[in-house]
Amino acid sequence: MSPTRTPVKALSGSGKLVYGCDYNPEQWDSAIWREDVRLMKQAGVNLVAVNIFGWAELESLPGEYSFERLDEILDLLHANNIGVNLGTGTSSTPAWLTTLYPGILPQSASGTRAWPGGRQAWCPSSPQYREHALRLVGETVRRYGAHPAVRLWHVSNELGCHNALCYCDVSAGAFRSWLQARYGTLDALNKAWGTTFWSQRYSSWEQILPPRTTVSTNNPTQVLDFHRFSSDELLGYYQAEAEVLRQHSTVPVTTNFMVTAHIRNLDYWSWAPHMDVIANDHYLDHRLDAPATELAFAADATRGLAQGRPWLLMEHSTSAVNWQPRNIAKGPGEMLRNSLAHLARGADGLCFFQWRASVQGSEKFHSAMLPHAGTDSRIWREVLELGSILETLAEVAGTTVKAEAALVFSWEAWWAYDQESHPSSDVRYLDQVHAMYAAFWEAGITVDVVAPGADLSRYKLAVVPGLYLVREKDSAALAEYVANGGTALVTYFSGIVDENEKVLAGGYPGAFRTMLGIRSEEFYPLPPGRTLALSNGSTASLWSEAMRLEGAEAQLTFTEGHLSGTAAVTRNRHGAGNAWYLGTVLDPASLRDVVTGAAGEAGINVLGSPTGLEVVVRSGADHSYVFLINHSDEDHKYAAHGHELIVGEDVSHAVVVPAGAVRVVRTSDPAPQTAGPSASQKDDESD
Ligand code: GAL
Repeated sequence: MSPTRTPVKALSGSGKLVYGCDYNPEQWDSAIWREDVRLMKQAGVNLVAVNIFGWAELESLPGEYSFERLDEILDLLHANNIGVNLGTGTSSTPAWLTTLYPGILPQSASGTRAWPGGRQAWCPSSPQYREHALRLVGETVRRYGAHPAVRLWHVSNELGCHNALCYCDVSAGAFRSWLQARYGTLDALNKAWGTTFWSQRYSSWEQILPPRTTVSTNNPTQVLDFHRFSSDELLGYYQAEAEVLRQHSTVPVTTNFMVTAHIRNLDYWSWAPHMDVIANDHYLDHRLDAPATELAFAADATRGLAQGRPWLLMEHSTSAVNWQPRNIAKGPGEMLRNSLAHLARGADGLCFFQWRASVQGSEKFHSAMLPHAGTDSRIWREVLELGSILETLAEVAGTTVKAEAALVFSWEAWWAYDQESHPSSDVRYLDQVHAMYAAFWEAGITVDVVAPGADLSRYKLAVVPGLYLVREKDSAALAEYVANGGTALVTYFSGIVDENEKVLAGGYPGAFRTMLGIRSEEFYPLPPGRTLALSNGSTASLWSEAMRLEGAEAQLTFTEGHLSGTAAVTRNRHGAGNAWYLGTVLDPASLRDVVTGAAGEAGINVLGSPTGLEVVVRSGADHSYVFLINHSDEDHKYAAHGHELIVGEDVSHAVVVPAGAVRVVRTSDPAPQTAGPSASQKDDESD
């Protein structure tokens, strides 16, 4: 457990906001380093991550270390007052290591060993990998543990990005030990995994394997436990590196999380308490329908991991990435909107991957702060602009975001939900989470993202999308929250199984039936493209269920098909609170109506209508900062009183946010906890 949590602003060296990047000087001649540092200073960069992929450079042969080039880099950065986020360099193994120990290379579920030549090709349980990596960490921290440039230790890089799940024999052994610790006896394991099914019973620990490729489907609890094990195994590895670092250095330690739509292998709720700084990497994902909304969700989730305190955006991109099918470049102003959306949602530092665009290797078409085009480029001008805006916004550092609604999110539920052999492969956990989140985003209601079982007492509303797997204590905590006057909004395929993937029988959703006052007998997923008419004139898709009311009132009913006349959306009075259930997929407009209806009833001041204006408030002791991010093609007007920081003008009653622009108003007005575009946005007058 991390003894202290370091304030992110301390990493800037001045108590201001952090502005930084990954820097890979090993890809460049030392003559370029000086030019780089000069330009970094011009941009206002104050923290640079180096040595992320440095292993082969530092230890070119086993046990032969050469730190001279890294010494020079650290000294150069320090002389220019730029702090270092020092990588331990263990993320990618040198060729000699996997040649000596090919067993380090991870193995897929079907038994294929990965070849070296990419990155992160190591098995998280490999003793040879760990021994050599920790030896390098020891050498590095002994050399730089007290170097004045070093402000943060950056363990490995995006642990588990490529290698989270390894199915080799070494991993199998580690998995067994993990299972022994979890279950104690084979009987307990057989019971938890339901191994009476399909003759899967184990009579010795040695028979148990990771869920390797079978000719049919794997045991779902085995799959789930393998996810839990794999997350714990990498966390154990993180802790091993952190322990070596802490023996020789008092500098805070962290690693970069990947709270993002396309990576789901680590349960960051269990990782977060071990970090001195919560740091996330986020890239806009153009494979999604609403990339900017997903960015906001990831930022809110990262703030949740930081328990509401400021966090660090360790990586994002100035423009295109290189790893999506079509790598869409950002349009003018888009980088600023993205970067400041992270800041609005609680980041106290913004860093990019990477400083100077590579000219070789598979990331050579990935954008950077300094693009191939050089300084005579839009990207560079926007990089300078962002640097100066961060200077202007320095006073925001340390302030926090306060929300009246919470969204319950669970990596474990995600692993369980998206397994095979479920009622419909068209319903996916993250789609549900994103749909619910988008409805709040569009209504201008800021949400905190919390873990199942979190204390909800300070929230007026808790939204629980697709919490398919839920522990008894966590469903009880939610019911108690509602009984005490809270409002819950639970969506379909929630509360179905316990922590061992065992169905809570007796009618769905077993874990929430009483609180919701309903009982479903059967699910009727709909094929893509098929819809069912609803009583409000809209249509439902993808999911329906045969629901009986046991105390709840129907808010919407199906008016078509054999479920015609039965409930699709319900509300139940439970104790002093209300529990809503969405038993189908609503179209976005109906979903927004339900969300704003439930939120309004819960006492949340919903002012907004969907306009593309993202509004988030950060508050400090004396002031609040209203961030206004205009994603639309139209100018918007927002009622506010105070001082606008980006253009630097007083605002007496409304501020205009031009199309595509961002404005930040410092105000002494009591913090608007929920901020939607105000009714006065249609006024013609502005300041
Ligand atoms: C991250 C990684 C960086 C770089 C970047 C490209 O996943 O940490 O090293 O590869 O992606 O988007």
